[in-house]
Amino acid sequence: MKLADNKATMSFSNGAPSVEMPIYQGSVGPDVIDIRKLYAQTGMFTYDPGFLSTASCQSAITYIDGDKGELLYRGYPIEQLAVNCDFMETCHLLLYGNLPNASAKADFTKRVSNHTMVNEQMQFFLRGFRRDAHPMAIMTGLVGALSAFYHDSTDITNPEHREISAIRLIAKLPTLVAMAYKYSAGQPYMYPKNNLSYAGNFMHMMFATPCEDYVVNPVIERAIDRIFILHADHEQNASTSTVRLCGSSGTNPFAAIAAGVACLWGPAHGGANEACLNMLEDIQKMGGISKVGEFMNQVKDKNSGVKLMGFGHRVYKNYDPRAKLMQETCKEVLAALGLENDPLFKLAMALEKIALEDDYFVQRKLYPNVDFYSGIVQRAIGIPVGLFTAVFALARTVGWIAQLNEMIGDPEYKIGRPRQLFTGSVRREVLPIAQR
Ligand code: CMC
Repeated sequence: MKLADNKATMSFSNGAPSVEMPIYQGSVGPDVIDIRKLYAQTGMFTYDPGFLSTASCQSAITYIDGDKGELLYRGYPIEQLAVNCDFMETCHLLLYGNLPNASAKADFTKRVSNHTMVNEQMQFFLRGFRRDAHPMAIMTGLVGALSAFYHDSTDITNPEHREISAIRLIAKLPTLVAMAYKYSAGQPYMYPKNNLSYAGNFMHMMFATPCEDYVVNPVIERAIDRIFILHADHEQNASTSTVRLCGSSGTNPFAAIAAGVACLWGPAHGGANEACLNMLEDIQKMGGISKVGEFMNQVKDKNSGVKLMGFGHRVYKNYDPRAKLMQETCKEVLAALGLENDPLFKLAMALEKIALEDDYFVQRKLYPNVDFYSGIVQRAIGIPVGLFTAVFALARTVGWIAQLNEMIGDPEYKIGRPRQLFTGSVRREVLPIAQR
């Protein structure tokens, strides 16, 4: 970390001595005030629920400029990666810091495809679930269960263990997501086909059956690959911070990633794609575009509890660049499938137009986020709504594992242990039950 020329001074109105704190500069983005010695020097903590002003770590992986609406993986703009690279290249970039050349890409792809199968025992875990179990409930269980199969790679302090776990997780997540889907559909599981691309293999495991040959549609394959690229990492969001905090105790990588899956499930985070599509379907049932005004009034009424899902972001105060790319993909996929007049897409465009012109959204700088269009694309492809967040988890796994490995390799890494402002009862004595 690079020290800035200036320092921060914290002074107190009660005459307590002031405290000087170093300031560090990143390569780009806001500086940070180092408060690590504050408690030792003052006996006070800082208070920042929801981490509105707190950098929890240093990281060199992903950078977001929320005001500009810019997203960079290792310095490369998401728009360029989405057009010029595929998901395997993106994984290599996130994990190792550089875009691979052709031979490094072939090596990496081969290493990943060597690990696409899961242990046959995995299907017995699935059998324990109801057929209508939520796929994210299944995924939380299955990803955690992977730790029981790889005792040879659960030592998080060993770089080789971290490396092979990363490859295994990236390779096996599509297999597990497809198994969760096949189980719910009552269809036989399809084994991975390693001569297909990462996205093509996922499509094969999802949509092929043993009865017929399955041909991968290249437009859909490219769209799925793009969904994976756009979701691959997003710096210190809730699930990534969960993975880091969970991994900071020294637990194994599979357990830490399972914690990330659990966090991602929530509707304020990865669950928003499912919630967004359900919202669009509800408006459609109410009467579609003619009811948009009525729905927007509910969104703006604080007492209604209704939110415009797929809108707003903690960091982006401008258009989420991923939403723009996703909208583009949405148009391509709908055209390729002859669904140009898809009523939900039309409805989404109408909602977006109204929201972007409405004072409520303009004042609060609320723009579409990645989840606004991703559900429409996935639904058109044939991915069931309940599986959307599992697809997000599949794609985010590389980001989680890259961030986890970065943390463990950081000499400043410590177990995460936030403190609190205690507002409960002060010490009191336990009375015998008859006197309470
Ligand atoms: N619809 C209506 N009002 C909203 C929305 C929305 N989608 N998002 C934010 N607001 C309002 C919010 O009520 C608040 O208003 P006020 O200042 O009058 O109280 C203001 O905008 C600021 O919102 P906030 O809740 O303080 O912002 P936050 O940074 O804590 O929350 C968020 C960010 C993403 C949780 C929130 O915008 C949201 O719930 N959006 C809908 C869910 C969603 O699409 N999530 C996906 C996020 S991107 C992908 C991912 O992370 O997985």
